[in-house]
Amino acid sequence: MDPIAPDRERIARAASFVINGGLVAFPTETVYGLGCDCYNPEAIRRIYEVKKRPPDNPLILHVSSQHQFEEAVVNIPETAWKVLEKAWPGPLTMVLNRSAKVPKEVSGGLGSVAVRMPAHPVALALIDLSGRPIAAPSANLSGKPSPTNAKHVEEDLSGVIEVIVDAGETFFGVESTIVDLTVEPPNLLRPGAFTVEELRQIIGRPPALSRMARGFAEAEVAISPGMKYRHYAPRTKMLLVEVADSIEKIEDNMLAIGRESSQRGERVAMLCSDETEHRYRNEGFITRSLGTRQNLYTVARSLFSALREVDSLGITLIVSEAFEEKGIGLAIMNRLRKASSSSMAANSRR
Ligand code: TXA
Ligand code: MG
Repeated sequence: MDPIAPDRERIARAASFVINGGLVAFPTETVYGLGCDCYNPEAIRRIYEVKKRPPDNPLILHVSSQHQFEEAVVNIPETAWKVLEKAWPGPLTMVLNRSAKVPKEVSGGLGSVAVRMPAHPVALALIDLSGRPIAAPSANLSGKPSPTNAKHVEEDLSGVIEVIVDAGETFFGVESTIVDLTVEPPNLLRPGAFTVEELRQIIGRPPALSRMARGFAEAEVAISPGMKYRHYAPRTKMLLVEVADSIEKIEDNMLAIGRESSQRGERVAMLCSDETEHRYRNEGFITRSLGTRQNLYTVARSLFSALREVDSLGITLIVSEAFEEKGIGLAIMNRLRKASSSSMAANSRR
C-alpha cells in the first residue's frame, strides 16, 4: 500500500490480527517491525520464537499517542517530555521506568521499557486501529540485517507469521536511536536514524556515547541486552577499512587489501561509495556502492539491502569502506563494525 496515504480499511484488517494475538510485520520510518499486542504474553513469546531471538533481548513498545506513553512509563523526567515534544513521532526510542501496566515480557523482565512513536502513517494507523501499543523488534531473523522492505521480511519469516503489511521501502533504512533516560547524563545505547547532534540540541547536553555504542567490541556487561550479540553480519567474511585521514588513503588501503586478498585466491567485492566506485571497478573488482558521501542518508538507506545481497555475489571476502562518524554516519559505522568480522583501524582497535 501507499506509505503516505495508506488504505485504512486494509490496515484495520491487519489490526484485527494484532487484537487476536497474531504477529504482524509492518513498516516504520526506520525498518520493518514484527508487532503484536503488547498485553498478550503468549504473542510476545512467539515473537522470540519465530525470530530465534535470545530471551533477554527486550522489545520496543510502539505508541501512537501521548496517552499510551503516559500509561507505559513512570517517573517521567523533564528530558523525556522535551523529547516527546520535539522528536516524536520520529526515530528516537526512550528507555524509561516501566509502569506496572506494561507486561514484564515486553522488556524481558527489566524494570525499564523502551518506547517510541514511529513517524510512519502505516505504523501509526496500525497502532491506532489496534487500540493499544504494539510491542515489536525488527522483523528479521536474529543476527540478520533489519528488513527495509517486505521482501526482506518474507525471506526471513515467511510461513511463521500471520501478516506482512507491505508499504514499500522504509524511509531511513537504519533503526531508531535508543537513549536511556533513567540515568544522568542520558546514555546513548544505540546510534540510529535520529542524529546525536539533534538529540543534544533537545536535551541540552551531550548524551554519553560509549565505545560499545559506536559498535566496537562489547563491554563485559552489556548495558542494553541487545548490544552484546553480533548483528547484521553477512555469511561472507567482511573486513572494514576504518577511517584514514583522507578518502584517497581509504581508497589506497582498500586497493592494497583487495589486490593482496585476490592474490591469495579470495574473490573480493568492494563495498564503497559513488565517489570511489570507479577506481575499484577499473582494477576489475566487483563493487557495490552504498550511496554518495555527500549525503549519508543515501548510504543508510541502502546499507541493509547491500548486506543482504553480498552473500549472493559469489564472493569470499567483502572489503568495506568506512564513513565519517557524523550525523547518521554514527549509525552507519556502528552497523558496519558489527557486521564485519574484523576491521583495519587507523586509530582504534576492535
Ligand atoms: O527502529 C527501530 O527501533 C525498530 C522499529 C521496528 O521500531 N525496532 C528495532 O528493534 O530495531 P530491535 O530489534 O533493535 O530491538 C529492540 C532494541 C534491542 O536492541 C534492545 O536491547 C533494546 O531495544 N531495548 C529494548 N528495551 C530495552 C530496555 N529496557 N533497556 C535497554 N535496551 C532496551
Ligand atoms: Mg533487531
